[in-house]
Parts: sequence; structure tokens; C-alpha cells
Amino acid sequence: MALDSFTIRNLTPTFGAEVSGIDLSKEMSATAQKTIKELWAEHQLLLFRGQTMGEIDLVRSSRYLGELEIHIRREYLSEENPEVLLVSNIKKDGRPVGILSDTEVGWHFDQIYLPRPAVGSMLMAVKLPSSGGQTSFADMTAAYEALPDDIKNRIDGKKAVQSYEAFNAQFSVPTNKTQKVQSPDIEQPLVRTHPVSGRKALYICPGMTTQIVGMDKGESDKTLEFLFSWSVKPEFVYTHDWQMGDVLLWDNASTMHRREPFAVNDERLMKRTTILPPEELAAPF
Ligand code: SIN
Repeated sequence: MALDSFTIRNLTPTFGAEVSGIDLSKEMSATAQKTIKELWAEHQLLLFRGQTMGEIDLVRSSRYLGELEIHIRREYLSEENPEVLLVSNIKKDGRPVGILSDTEVGWHFDQIYLPRPAVGSMLMAVKLPSSGGQTSFADMTAAYEALPDDIKNRIDGKKAVQSYEAFNAQFSVPTNKTQKVQSPDIEQPLVRTHPVSGRKALYICPGMTTQIVGMDKGESDKTLEFLFSWSVKPEFVYTHDWQMGDVLLWDNASTMHRREPFAVNDERLMKRTTILPPEELAAPF
């Protein structure tokens, strides 16, 4: 499909689209910005290939979509542009320069553990492992919509506890005192209504969701276990094979993602921005 000067190719039957005909290293017209925003809400995951952009272009392109967050893992921010978070296994002085280094490969929503959780993230490839590497995305809208009615009735209106500390603990990543203060465990709606499309999506992830509020622990564990495996059924998942020049923009209200493992001796460096919702659309949503 051609839309203005863009061409759209669907990545799966339910979500994800490759957008061609846009150069993210250039300023975007107001019309192009509006179109990208609409495509982002509609397709939930956008792929831009063949980009030749630097950090500053990543920041500018992301700013068209909203205010940018400065990630609480201050140790992994770009020195030049603090809006840019490094995602990397590369080590300097024995320490990884980025988040999600060797072992952190759990499904998650970015910043689900904050009161103003991100609406999106933009990720660009800077250095890829020899295999290219992969990132998988789960369409949590399709997963919610396909649920049997009795399960929907059981979870609609419920809240769940989200814990950044629990996520880090799984991968033996320390959460320091400041980060603990900035990200205490928090309750979020278990079903999140998209601020633009109005569609409902499951808003839980195996990495960070620890308990459904108001359910006893046994029932909560059983329900979460069911929902976690339901939402990553093959029909809801797209796995992206990275190429240099790729940039992904995902909708963080309706997709969860995880980096897939790659050869331990290979190096990978990605740069990410995290896009915040307008203040008035922050939780409860
Ligand atoms: C992320 O989880 O934010 C990054 C995913 C990736 O590096 O593939």
C-alpha cells in the first residue's frame, strides 16, 4: 500500500509493518510526522530499513512522537545524548557499556514499572553479531482479543504488580538504591487501553509482572502462567532478523519484546530512545 510517499508492507497478519520511502536522518514534515504517528498506533511496530542515521537523528525522529525519557539506568546512557540508552554486551574495563548484556533476555514492556510508562521505543542497530541477531515482539492486542470470554471477564478491570527489581533479580543484575527509590513495585491495569486506538491489550510480562492484585497467590500464579504462554503463541509473535540500517519503532502499550540470544563472543550495540505519553494520558489509562 502506498500512503503519501510511503510504502507499507505488513510484517504479520495482525501487526507490524515495514515503512519504505522515509529517511530518518532528515527532518520530517508535519504531514510525515502525522502519518508515522498514525501508522505506529495502527501497526504497533514499524520497521525502517536502509537508514544511515546518527544518535542525533534518532533523538530528533523520536521527539516527533513525544517527550523522551531519561532511563533510570544512568550508567548506560550515551554521554553525548542522555535520551539515548545503550543496549549492548560490549565491555569496557570489564563492565558492559549497555543494558541487556549477556543474559538478560526476558519478555518485557519498557518501563511498565513506572507511573508514566513509555508509549514507545525506537531502536537502531549500530553493531550486530555475525548472525545479525533477533528481537521478538508479541502482539498483546491480538493476544487479548483472542482470549476466551471467561478469561477476559476474570481479568478485565484487574491490576497487576510490576517489579523492576524482580526483573533484574532474574538476571542477577543489581538494582541500586537510587534505582529502587525511582522504581518501587507498582500496580498497573492488567489490560491496557491504547491511548490512540482505544483497543485493549494485555499489559503483563513474564519478566516483571509478579502478582494479580486481589487474587490469592496460587490463582494469580496460575492465571499469569496461562496468560504468559498464551501471549507468546506463534500467531502473536514476530521475530525480527536485524540488518545494519534497520530501525524499529514499537508501541509499548500493546507489544512486549525480548532480545533473542546470540553467540557469546560476538559484539552487539544498539541505541534506543524511550517515548513518554503526554502527561494527561499517563496512568491510569
Ligand atoms: C530492549 O529490550 O529495549 C532492546 C531489545 C533489543 O536490544 O533487541
